[in-house]
This record gives sequence, structure tokens and C-alpha cells, in this order.
Amino acid sequence: MTRVVVVGSGGREHALADVLGRTAESVVVTPGNPGIPGSVETPATELEADLFVIGPEVPLVEGLADELRAQGKLVFGPGRDGAQLEGSKAWMKELFAAAGVPTAAYGSFSEVEAALAYLSTMSAPFVIKTDGLAAGKGVVVTNDRAEAEAAVRSYLSGEAFGDAGSTVVIEEGLTGPEVSVFAVCDGHKAVLLAPAQDHKRIFDNDEGPNTGGMGAYTPLPWADAGLLEMVEREAINPTLAELRRRGIDYRGVLYAGLMLTPAGPKMLEYNVRFGDPETQVVLPRIDSDLVQLLMEAAAGNIESEPTFSNDAHVIVVCASEGYPASPRTGDVIHGIGAARAIDGVSVYAAGVKENAAGELITGGGRVLNVVGRGRTVDEAVAKAYEGVAAIEFPGMHVRSDIAAQARES
Ligand code: AMP
Ligand code: GLY
Repeated sequence: MTRVVVVGSGGREHALADVLGRTAESVVVTPGNPGIPGSVETPATELEADLFVIGPEVPLVEGLADELRAQGKLVFGPGRDGAQLEGSKAWMKELFAAAGVPTAAYGSFSEVEAALAYLSTMSAPFVIKTDGLAAGKGVVVTNDRAEAEAAVRSYLSGEAFGDAGSTVVIEEGLTGPEVSVFAVCDGHKAVLLAPAQDHKRIFDNDEGPNTGGMGAYTPLPWADAGLLEMVEREAINPTLAELRRRGIDYRGVLYAGLMLTPAGPKMLEYNVRFGDPETQVVLPRIDSDLVQLLMEAAAGNIESEPTFSNDAHVIVVCASEGYPASPRTGDVIHGIGAARAIDGVSVYAAGVKENAAGELITGGGRVLNVVGRGRTVDEAVAKAYEGVAAIEFPGMHVRSDIAAQARES
């Protein structure tokens, strides 16, 4: 039996612990949060386990996987070298070009004049991104040229995102549905997990600013049956080959964010970790042994093939008032137990803290994740919103249209 340590503190890590806990002897989450059972404050480097799974991008980019490997630990997650894929969008775009992966045309700039000159050659929608990490918030997509120019200025001045914005990437604006695909990689090859769709904007009908993700669902009834094969052939395999060519042994998730454009699928980006909130719907569908799969990948030799239940899973994120700009925190949360008591509903804890009385309070922008399960997407949507209705905290905001696209198809 296997002992697993999960690094991170959000809903993704709660779901990872939950699903890994189906077959592991024990799962510890560091630092976790007061809503995740098995949370400990001890840093990963001071824990013993048979497998370490690193959830978020920041410790990956900072080299935690390298540090743990240097201690002789078995780690699922890329080293600092591979994590550059997410740590620098300019590096990622250059790798796409080298590997021949289809993606949006772009330029990367650290001078305002050159950036504005390139922008003046583009047509709407305008897409401006920080080169560095910005918690999913460093992207502006707008039809308003003045807004795009203002974003370039505020990123490059350091005003908006500090150092993360000191280089900007300006991209051709693409249109079409977005898909998230997780490839579990062992350095040479990958197995792909069931695709999901995220909802990035804060308000219904994809309005308002981008967030870390407000909801997701799987399966995608409207997606082409050949989608995963295409992603593996056109994006994942050439990327792993290019990484290897650069001496990078990539053992972890390649999370492909792609857009199905009228001109064919194009890669928007890679993340070097599981997606949040997609993980909370994709992993519960795995009915094979996730611990074994991740251990094989971490050891550089995937042999097992994951299998999935056909059940639909839908996640609705309960966010704080003011998210993403300035989330209100410190309010007592009620109803988690009542939501969990509903058959087909799970609740994962994300941005939560505990008050002196031992009650869970809001502690971040994305507070709780309510996951509904059903035979169809319709059933899973109904379950998720039934769970949401049981939960209460002041100013709670949810999107009411999660998975609407799947229900119309
Ligand atoms: P990213 O962090 O690169 O995934 O961007 C966040 C979100 O911005 C994506 O999920 C898309 O909704 C949107 N986006 C990013 N790049 C483009 C693009 N080239 N064209 C249109 N929308 C984009
Ligand atoms: N689902 C968006 C992200 O994890 O970046």
C-alpha cells in the first residue's frame, strides 16, 4: 500500500487527495486547508511518502520537484526546466514554433513602442498576456483597441502585474469552443485523460473579466470522437519530443488548453499541472488506479491505461463577492454538510480558512467547489446546482450557466 503526499491548498488538491485516496493507504496534503482532511503544515521536503504529487504551478516553477528528486523521492510533476512552459508564455510560444504545434500568431515584447506598433497591425479580438505567472488573470481579450493599448502600457510599466508583466505576449485573437485536455507524461510518452471544458469568465454568457475558472464539465457531448487522438498527435507527442531534444525529462501533466477554431484546433497554452477546476470533474471519472498511473509516470515508464466511467460530472465554483479583482473574505460558510448529504454531490474546499470558533470561513476568491454527478450532463448540472443551493455565505457568486453548451447540443 502506498503513502502519497499532495502539495497544494485548493479544490484541485482536495479532489486529487480524494481520488488518490481510493487506492492509497494514506494521503497527506501540504499545506492543504482546513476543509481538506489530512492537511498538514509540514513542508513536503520534510515528509516521507512513496509518491509526491505537486498540484500548483508556483512550486513547480520554483523547482520543488527538483528539490524532492534530489532527496531521492518519487515525484509526479516537472522540474523547473519543464515548468518554464507555464512560467514563460514567450518560451512556450517559441517551443510551439520549434515543435510545429498549431497555435495563434504572436509577438513578444518588453518595450512599449514595439508592442504598440505590433498591436496596430492586429485586428480584433485583441489578446494581451503577461509573459509570467498571474494566477490565470494576466490575459486581456477585448474588441476595444484602446483597452488593449492600455493593457500593454500597464503590463509593461509593472503597474498591473509587477515583474510577471515585464514582457508581454500579443496574440492573434482566435474564436471557437475551448477544451482542456490533461496528458499524463513519463518523459517519453503520454496517456490522455477525458477532455473537459472550463468557464473562464466571471459572469454568465462569458462576460466580465477572466478568472482562474468558474466551472467545468465532462464529458463533452459535442466534441469530435477523434479529439484526443488529434491532441496527442499534433500537440503532445511533438512537444514531448522537443522537450527531450532540449534535454528535458518531463514527468507530470501537460495540460493542453486548446481552441477549436474554424481553421482547425489551435493550442492556446500549456499548463504544467492539472487544471483547476477541471481536475475536480475529470479525476472522479477515472475508475482505474490513479496512484499506480502517477507512480508509473513519475518513474518514467507508463504501462497502465486509465479507464473512465461514462457518468457526467459538473463543477460549479462558489466565489466570493468582488472576485477576481478584490475578493471579500472572512465570512462564515454554512451548508457544506447539507450539500454533501445529497446523493451525487461532492464539495471540495478551495479558498477557505478557519475562525477562532473552528468554523470554516471564506479565505479567497474561489471558495468552494460543488461537483454534481449524473448519467447525463443535464442530471449532473441539476445535482451540482442542488448542492450549491444548500451552501450559503454573504456575497456568494456562482455562474448559473455552467455546461449550457453541452445541454444545447
Ligand atoms: P490563457 O491563460 O493563455 O489560457 O488565456 C486565458 C483565456 O483567454 C483562454 O482560456 C481564452 O479564453 C482566452 N484566450 C487566450 N488566448 C486567446 C487567443 N489567442 N484568442 C482568443 N482568446 C484567447
Ligand atoms: N482551469 C484553468 C487553469 O487551471 O488554469
